Amino acid sequence: KLPILIDCDPGHDDAVMLMLAIGSGLFDIKAITTSAGNQTQQKTLANALRLKELLGSDIPIYKGCDKPLFRELIIADYVHGEMGMDGPILPEPTLKPESLSAIEAMANILAESEDPITLVPTGPLTNIATFLLAYPHLKPKIKRISLMGGGGFRGNMTPTAEFNIYVDPEAASIVFNSGVPITMCGLDVTHKALVFQEDIERFRAIGNKSGKVVAELMDFFSIFYRRERPELEGGAALHDPCAIAWLIDPTMFTSKTCYVDVEVTGKLTLGTTVVDFFDVWKKSPNTEFVYDIDREKYINLIYEAVQKLP
Ligand code: BDR
Ligand code: CA
Repeated sequence: KLPILIDCDPGHDDAVMLMLAIGSGLFDIKAITTSAGNQTQQKTLANALRLKELLGSDIPIYKGCDKPLFRELIIADYVHGEMGMDGPILPEPTLKPESLSAIEAMANILAESEDPITLVPTGPLTNIATFLLAYPHLKPKIKRISLMGGGGFRGNMTPTAEFNIYVDPEAASIVFNSGVPITMCGLDVTHKALVFQEDIERFRAIGNKSGKVVAELMDFFSIFYRRERPELEGGAALHDPCAIAWLIDPTMFTSKTCYVDVEVTGKLTLGTTVVDFFDVWKKSPNTEFVYDIDREKYINLIYEAVQKLP
């Protein structure tokens, strides 16, 4: 099993990402840490704990940073709602997070592991950047960072910037300049990783608790996409599970090894991932830039994982 550490801000698509990671049975998930993003840290943490309870999982959960490195937090309640995971009725969590902070936990887990660990961030990169700054000597223990964020040719916060990067661009810059190999599943691919109403009905028909929650999450999530993204023809962009699916089966995706950097000062382009697709700069590549997907395979992969869950 591939050892991974997940850093997320659940979040509808983060929730489905966790179900894919756990349900696939292919990962040794060392920890889940929570980032502030789709909602406040308090709410994304509570949502992670709710999911842990729903899935009957024993993965330890650690609370991450409350705010971006230098900026005020921007949340995406207009997509994810008041609770950050609106739709299904999920009770207040009874479980508690571990007492260590996310950053301390990452350090301990990496220091103790013999094998290098893959990090999977699907929210703003504040925790990962803080960890990299605080424990640079542990960098060799990171095998790769497979993240959802950015976009080579499109944005959703501004015409060129994607939410996870835009919320904490300085953190993203630290991550992309860290020297750790990155897989970037940005909007180029995730806006092709669509879930349609007939897919939602398939999840509902599985008949287990998890399938029902996926369907109810996607019912709510789709409202924003149908209203704001008519180009997707009724589909909702199921972003975050791409970062896990790529680790399971990269052949499902199309990608190119590129140099990527993050704009932290631009007047029009703050928070943009600048992808040197044609190698204009001749810099040594740091990123596997993922930009296309076999959608049917992707949805089936998630479907099979959810089938195995409670
Ligand atoms: C990203 O932003 C969040 O709203 C989603 O969970 C995803 O990680 C897409 O831009
Ligand atoms: Ca997310």
